[in-house]
Amino acid sequence: MLRNMRPILAWMSALLVAVPLGLEAAVSGATGVLGKSSELESCSQVKLRPAGQCGDEEECPYQITLPPMTIQLPKQFRLLEKTMKELQSLKETVRQLRSACLECGQQADESIRRDTSETPTKKDHGRGDSSRSAPSNSSSSNDVIQEMQTKMSRMSNSLKNARNQINTMQVKLDMMNGLSQNVEEVVDRRVANLTGVINKLSSTCSTECAAARSAPQYMIAHRDCSDYSDLKHRINGVYSVTPDVRNDTFEVFCDMESYGGGWTVVQRRVNGAVSFNRTWAEYKKGFGDLQGDFWLGNDKIHLLTKTKDMVLRIELEDFLGVREYAKYDQFYVSNEFLNYRLSLNGYSGTAGDAMHPKHDQKFFTTHDKDNDMYPSGNCGTYYGSGWWFNTCMSANLNGKYYIKRYKGKRDGIFWSTWHNITSEYYPTNYRRAFKTVTMMIRPKTYAP
Ligand SMILES: *[C@@H]1O[C@H](CO)[C@@H](O)[C@H](O)[C@H]1NC(C)=O
Ligand SMILES: *[C@@H]1O[C@H](CO)[C@@H](O)[C@H](O)[C@H]1NC(C)=O
Ligand SMILES: *[C@@H]1O[C@H](CO)[C@@H](O)[C@H](O)[C@H]1NC(C)=O
Ligand SMILES: *[C@@H]1O[C@H](CO)[C@@H](O)[C@H](O)[C@H]1NC(C)=O
Ligand SMILES: *[C@@H]1O[C@H](CO)[C@@H](O)[C@H](O)[C@H]1NC(C)=O
Repeated sequence: MLRNMRPILAWMSALLVAVPLGLEAAVSGATGVLGKSSELESCSQVKLRPAGQCGDEEECPYQITLPPMTIQLPKQFRLLEKTMKELQSLKETVRQLRSACLECGQQADESIRRDTSETPTKKDHGRGDSSRSAPSNSSSSNDVIQEMQTKMSRMSNSLKNARNQINTMQVKLDMMNGLSQNVEEVVDRRVANLTGVINKLSSTCSTECAAARSAPQYMIAHRDCSDYSDLKHRINGVYSVTPDVRNDTFEVFCDMESYGGGWTVVQRRVNGAVSFNRTWAEYKKGFGDLQGDFWLGNDKIHLLTKTKDMVLRIELEDFLGVREYAKYDQFYVSNEFLNYRLSLNGYSGTAGDAMHPKHDQKFFTTHDKDNDMYPSGNCGTYYGSGWWFNTCMSANLNGKYYIKRYKGKRDGIFWSTWHNITSEYYPTNYRRAFKTVTMMIRPKTYAP
């Protein structure tokens, strides 16, 4: 739509700006000033001059050159069909006016030639040929001038009218634009609110209703790795979990040994065997190898975090052997409808807080689905990664896995509060690479 309208608008605005300049000059010129072509030329933007050679007797066409102008369009130009049609009819009006203008031009030419006999000009193309004794304001010349004046003023009015209409439409567009942003915001807030309510209800239901139904398989369902912690031998490995009994059971990797165990691992990077430059669908479903590098999947992370309040623990190690961690007391990933929006808060740890607030409440973005806050591009495409990008990032644990420090675009795994990272001046200095990353979650209420 926008692309279709641009040439029309540009074309029309070129005509419209000529209204006050060109037509008033032409109108006053028709009453006598027009003869001084130097005056016309001093209207630097508008040029009225003969088109082609003109003999003494024949009529020759005149050409009017109108300056270009730029109209400011609203950013989000969500025009409706109606506006398009209005513009098209306006365009038609202007075209008619323009052809009327050409007609006028021809008549003006004639009157100029007559005027030149009394008011010599520098560029007088008819000099010497016209009779010096001929009176300039013969009755026929007066008729032509008056006719022209009428036409000109009619045109001027129509064009002014058209300009006013355009201005009115512009105001309407601005309003519509503001409105649609407002609506988006309101809907977003409502949906967030509703999702919160639904999550609360469904968690009440899956804990209480399931128990009430006393279906045995529900009773023994392991909702996440922490439900395996009463096993005699806590061993790291792949286990089945059912975070929501109405939904699927799926496999996860459980870290049953570190920091009290009971951790459900949602992301891990250990060897770079798996690319993290993936589509929305792949991030939704999950990819990789649960024993190696993997992303558990946004739907699963959503299910795991919606039924219980979860804490997130991030473990990072660089190739210099420095190990640090970041822990967030609150970690929640919304459903797909809300673009897997991230909520996290309550940092503690040693790695520094690179996630809050920059990535809090941000949507998930992949190279094929742009939900980031960067207006003129897709952070997921730029960094070849799926993440809760802002504009774009202060942390990206799904960046490319480099096995040693690298130069150039910072598309590797990144944690902005890491040691000495501020000395990595772009583009001269090397950037740190990370050897291992783990993101794992556990219920807030878990007691090892
Ligand atoms: C030109 O016209 C004006 C009014 O229209 C008149 O007063 C004047 O006498 C005319 N001049 C000549 C030379 O005809
Ligand atoms: C959700 O809506 C209810 C009722 O309109 C309101 O009381 C509540 O504060 C809202 N909650 C949030 C998180 O906006
Ligand atoms: C959970 O169930 C809903 C509704 O049937 C479905 O849309 C969603 O994909 C399921 N999630 C998982 C992880 O299976
Ligand atoms: C990511 O994958 C897409 C699709 O396969 C590809 O077009 C793009 O070049 C990749 N980006 C990077 C940084 O590797
Ligand atoms: C940070 O840089 C300083 C000076 O270059 C160095 O002495 C220190 O060991 C570095 N710290 C880490 C954790 O790399």
